[in-house]
Amino acid sequence: MKRVGFVGWRGMVGSVLMQRMLEEKDFEHIAEPVFFTTSQVGAAGPNIGKDIPALKDARDIDELKQMDAIVSCQGGDYTTEVFAKLRASGWDGYWIDAASTLRMADDSLIVLDPVNLDVIKDGLSKGVKNYVGGNCTVSLMLMGLGGLFKQDLVEWVSSMTYQAASGAGAQNMRELIKQMGQIHAGSEAMLANPSSAILDIDRQVSETMRSAEFATDNFGVPLAGSLIPWIDKAVEMGQSKEEWKGFVETNKILGLGDNPVPIDGTCVRIGAMRCHSQAFTVKLKRDVPMDEIEAMIAEANDWASVVPNERDATMTDLSPAKITGTLNVPVGRLRKMRMGPDFLNAFSVGDQLLWGAAEPLRRMLRILIE
Ligand code: HSE
Repeated sequence: MKRVGFVGWRGMVGSVLMQRMLEEKDFEHIAEPVFFTTSQVGAAGPNIGKDIPALKDARDIDELKQMDAIVSCQGGDYTTEVFAKLRASGWDGYWIDAASTLRMADDSLIVLDPVNLDVIKDGLSKGVKNYVGGNCTVSLMLMGLGGLFKQDLVEWVSSMTYQAASGAGAQNMRELIKQMGQIHAGSEAMLANPSSAILDIDRQVSETMRSAEFATDNFGVPLAGSLIPWIDKAVEMGQSKEEWKGFVETNKILGLGDNPVPIDGTCVRIGAMRCHSQAFTVKLKRDVPMDEIEAMIAEANDWASVVPNERDATMTDLSPAKITGTLNVPVGRLRKMRMGPDFLNAFSVGDQLLWGAAEPLRRMLRILIE
């Protein structure tokens, strides 16, 4: 593995990928990193601590064909435009992609090596060449609850999500902050007056959120001070695509094929920046004591941890404000539910740009180059 091409390294997921690759000194293991661009051919590439050629054209199949592996964070439209042409040209290298385009294809695997290294290794030995990062919500659920799946304890899961603005894109993150600012600006004078009536402030906030000037170009509706219980387009059975992915991708990641675990729930956008949170109801295959469940979750990988089901610990540690920008995936609110001893309640938080997007890709590349 000598030449590795990078496409879409300047966008939000690509930038997080570059940052993580520098932190982990990944470029020291890549003989010839080559950076591609869709708009600035010939310009200088990023500073990665070693000499690299000028930016190459991301649509030039002959240039792409020179690579042993290509990592794309450029998005689904790019994959749709370029991937088939590249393969049709006879290219036999590894394609590592953040976009969902190829996720469910028979000749691709979804990568999340702390959970499915066995599936990845099996794929490599069988000559699979396409490795795709999973949906962020799915990957974060499996990072948190992976121990329960590993022990074959899960009969089904209902997942109710609280998804951050970053999952919708960089512009959406900006819009969320803008909405917050507009709400504050509209009520600032009343807030400054300790004797103003809270219902007057509330009325002002509602007026701001419903006004034609409220910034909704990206979300289409208010998110700050509100929420959006629909993510992505409609698919089947009244599900949104984000909800549909929960079932199909989880089972593909785990390689469960003919014997899938039912997973369903409601995916909701909330006003967090980049941490997706999820509330789970897990139907266990049998009644397992809580201490064993906690050990399975905490020991499944180096990033999952258990937050005691106590008020203070939950408030401080099971929080997007605390977890954002880290690889930690805390799981808390762990308790048996009133429905019976084989019903488990859980809540997890995780940064959707890290384990939900960039991290599985850089780790897949490390698996290939080591
Ligand atoms: N589809 C996810 C979301 C992000 O909208 O939050 C990418 O996996």
